[in-house]
Amino acid sequence: MTERTFSIIKPDATRRNLTGKINAVIEDAGLRIVAQRRVKLTTDQAKKFYEVHAERPFYGELVEQMTAEPVVVQVLEGENAVAKYREVMGATNPEQAAEGTIRKSFALSIGENSVHGSDSLDNAKIEIAQFFTDDQIVG
Ligand code: CMP
Repeated sequence: MTERTFSIIKPDATRRNLTGKINAVIEDAGLRIVAQRRVKLTTDQAKKFYEVHAERPFYGELVEQMTAEPVVVQVLEGENAVAKYREVMGATNPEQAAEGTIRKSFALSIGENSVHGSDSLDNAKIEIAQFFTDDQIVG
């Protein structure tokens, strides 16, 4: 089934000028970037986006890191896009990520892990709606 998923290229990656290299991995995997915008998240945006982690010990640091520098927010489209992108990203902890994945290639640590991707189709819809209107997504 053709799906859409939400992606963020995180500050650790934009800071190191890795947007193009990460997009190349995404496109080589057969995912299509159907919307993309560079944006500096506000603290409120980051807090809301990561609300599910509010009680976790790393929440404060996560919000700080995500607002430190610009990010690139994206909508990716393709066959089974949600699961496909999670495969392309690799494990949250780069030490456990498989060879050839974005996190294995570029991530610095579990916190500075270069990319975010939605974990389900329902969350993809919620996350996309936080950053894009329907007319900004051109499939
Ligand atoms: P992400 O997919 O963006 O979702 C939540 C983020 O929290 C995760 O990637 C990591 O970057 C970050 N994080 C920091 N520490 C941890 C941790 N101990 N476990 C899981 N996620 C963590």
